[in-house]
Amino acid sequence: MKRFRPLTRRGLLIGAGAAATFGAPAFGQGHAMRRIAPNLASDAFTPDVELELICKRDETPILTGKPTRVWRYVGNLIKGPPNALTALPDAYLGPLLRFTKGQKVRIRLRNELPEETITHWHGLHVPMLMDGHPTAAIDPGETYVYEFEIRNRAGMYFYHPHTHEKTATQVYRGLAGAIIVEDAEERALGLPSGEFEIPLVIQDRSFDDDNQLAYGGDMHTSMFGFYGDRVLVNGRSDFTLDVASRAYRLRLLNGSNARIYKLCWDDRTPLTVIGVDGGLLEKAETRPYVMLAPAERLDLIVDFSGRPQGSKLTMLSGEFYGLIPPMAQRMMGSDLAMGEEFPLFTARVTKASNDSWKLPEKLSTIRRFRKDEIANLDDPMPIAITMAHMAMFLNGRPYGHDDIQPRERIPVDTTQLIEIFHEHGGMGGMGMGGMGGMGMGGMQGRGMMGGGMMRGRMGMGGMGRGGMGMGGMGGMGMMSMAHPIHLHGQPFEIIERRFEGDEDAYASVRDGFIDSGLKDTVLVTPGERLRIIKPFGDFKGRFMYHCHNLEHEDAGMMREFSVE
Ligand code: C2O
Ligand code: CU
Ligand code: CU
Repeated sequence: MKRFRPLTRRGLLIGAGAAATFGAPAFGQGHAMRRIAPNLASDAFTPDVELELICKRDETPILTGKPTRVWRYVGNLIKGPPNALTALPDAYLGPLLRFTKGQKVRIRLRNELPEETITHWHGLHVPMLMDGHPTAAIDPGETYVYEFEIRNRAGMYFYHPHTHEKTATQVYRGLAGAIIVEDAEERALGLPSGEFEIPLVIQDRSFDDDNQLAYGGDMHTSMFGFYGDRVLVNGRSDFTLDVASRAYRLRLLNGSNARIYKLCWDDRTPLTVIGVDGGLLEKAETRPYVMLAPAERLDLIVDFSGRPQGSKLTMLSGEFYGLIPPMAQRMMGSDLAMGEEFPLFTARVTKASNDSWKLPEKLSTIRRFRKDEIANLDDPMPIAITMAHMAMFLNGRPYGHDDIQPRERIPVDTTQLIEIFHEHGGMGGMGMGGMGGMGMGGMQGRGMMGGGMMRGRMGMGGMGRGGMGMGGMGGMGMMSMAHPIHLHGQPFEIIERRFEGDEDAYASVRDGFIDSGLKDTVLVTPGERLRIIKPFGDFKGRFMYHCHNLEHEDAGMMREFSVE
């Protein structure tokens, strides 16, 4: 495949003194934000695990030569089992947190950065006050105390900032970490554990000649997301894993701002998938490759038994097409085009082992919702994705802290059917001026939010597009890209994935979606229309839903549900 070279100037350099030029989204919405007071520890809460996480500036070796200035989480365990917090030596990534279902956890988040921040526990089902809502951001010097019970099933989760319009840059500078939740159901399986269970956080970064992080804070970055020149695994470049000839459990998290990976082994050994975002599947699935979009997780078993000492197995990101407009590829300024093949990490068999282990047939039980449990079976709640020149919208509107629309109010303890689809901003999508995009977006917004009007309007919209001769996919192809859509709160089931569009491009990704497990983030590729079922249990309050392309999130492709 053709290797695209940057046509635009490299991104801005990030240095300690360059903060002013770095981080302003090209078209952020700039809402006034009403803040809540930092939450304090409660005497009524007796934690099983208590820890402190400090967000601070630091430097760490990444490339040979000069260390890289980063922002990072540094943790201290105050109370609880020693494995609750494991620092990653010589990496900017935050410590690995390990909790057990049912544990009560207190986390003291201290901000020692030069700007406001707040942390979100991605995938954990917690009350709004504990969810890292942007209005809970704390200033430098302040501490926010989180107290919650771990209600999730066993799985890998993700913590990262959720600061208003600063999520992308704060994560990019290094603020991110993984959480592992364990439970009894999973323990009973005897999956590879200890040194045989390896968390792998995949991120892409660009560096300047001085080994410092570079970020393209320009219009194209806001529009399509940031794509780095290098892949880092657990904060390291050229990551290699020394393994014994036995079974391992690899737990992958895509912690990149925008890059989507197509995971496959270089010798074409199929991938054995045992879990996704919301924990274990019911039964393992075998795939030639798996797509991993930002914030998605993947739980793999890889068996090195029978592989000779000295042999190597490399995880690649394979070739794919159609998830980003070709025009954007050329303008993005990364040496690694998204969709070209490149290596992610290598496992090297260095020790013999006689341990033999067999993957159990049944891995877990997933409680599936019945039709009669769904509150809105005939009237799915829409999540319409609009991406036009000056408009990154969900349901026709950009993010606003106090902008709940009627359709976004959800009765607590109900289960909702949700339909996620691309809503093309008409003329905006054809690359006409910004006002065109905005105007269309606004109109769609009113239509969308009108509840029962939705289906009628959709039909008309579809006819309108065809009738205008915009060439269906041809017109859409201009601006259409894949969006990893994330919903806070409880995980969801994917029940339907429909596709209409470029079949050849779709053929390069379609076998890589694992829809049989519980998810909290799902990639919606151009031409796809998905249906999901999501419970909104236990907690009232505002819970965000957004694109996890972090540049899109910061540019306004985020909304919130009011659970009431
Ligand atoms: Cu991982 Cu609302 O985010
Ligand atoms: Cu989240
Ligand atoms: Cu997006």
